[in-house]
Amino acid sequence: MHFEPGHTVGIDLGTTFSAIAILDDEGKPRVIPNEDGDIETASVILLADSGHVIVGPNRMRAAMEDPQNVIERIKRYMGMPDYRRTFDGREISPEFISALILKKLRQDAEKQIGKIGNAVVTVPYYFNDARRKATQDAGRIAGLNVIDIMNEPTAATLTYAYREGVLGNPEARVDQPKKVLVYDLGGGTFDVTVVEYTPTQFRVLATDGDVQLGGVDGNDRLLDYVADAFKQRHGIDPRESPQMIQILRNDCDLAKIELSEKTETVIHCRYEGRAIDV
Ligand SMILES: Nc1ncnc2c1ncn2[C@@H]1O[C@H](COP(=O)(O)OP(=O)(O)OP(=O)(O)O)[C@@H](O)[C@H]1O
Ligand SMILES: [Mg+2]
Repeated sequence: MHFEPGHTVGIDLGTTFSAIAILDDEGKPRVIPNEDGDIETASVILLADSGHVIVGPNRMRAAMEDPQNVIERIKRYMGMPDYRRTFDGREISPEFISALILKKLRQDAEKQIGKIGNAVVTVPYYFNDARRKATQDAGRIAGLNVIDIMNEPTAATLTYAYREGVLGNPEARVDQPKKVLVYDLGGGTFDVTVVEYTPTQFRVLATDGDVQLGGVDGNDRLLDYVADAFKQRHGIDPRESPQMIQILRNDCDLAKIELSEKTETVIHCRYEGRAIDV
């Protein structure tokens, strides 16, 4: 393993949100906010005219954009050779698109901490070799020397062990290895992993999950529910319009999140001069 000059960071390249962190002078992990002050950047890309791109736009901006110019959920396509998308007359790969997200994270962070040379990037435990390699390539395209690809449940366990004061602490009195269950229902992937750890060693004992199941799928089910209700009432389907799908998907996501705190919520759907509240 070789290190390039500059800081070394850890990056969580998520299906819906991504984040970048560094160890501070005391060795404590710290998430570096993006230029808007948010600790997470939406893993969304807007392809504008003349080769210009916007990474991590806010919800409103993304929902109003022409759906043809919006790229979301690219993590689902990592390592898949059949993915086809063109931009500015050129074919672009999932690695290239993910690299745009990584570059945005890097550039925003560099404005605060100075040059970043190296990165550890996390991936789902059951990402196969092709998907891991694609993630590594994305880092390289983004100008990062990827020193390691780490499994997300391992990263979560590291954080947990760190918070418990056990990680790398020879004083920690750990007679027996400890076991933790990591439950990660993300935007695009779902996995449950049992990890055994001591201050210096981590071992995955068991893992299972679904690489095609996450919060976005819940949003799509809600969207279908609302669109079906609309169709039944008005005889036309809002899913005929890609723009409507995009707007409704966003509204369904917000409604779902609201239901964590409330027992009821309303989704408004307006299309072709007609409307319903569900
Ligand atoms: N309060 C909430 N209730 C239900 N779902 C929520 C809530 N807050 C966020 N979510 C959902 O969590 C998902 C985002 O989670 P997270 O940031 O962990 O995913 P990710 O890291 O981008 O994805 P992945 O790890 O699968 O690649 C989104 O689908 C979002 O709708
Ligand atoms: Mg995640």
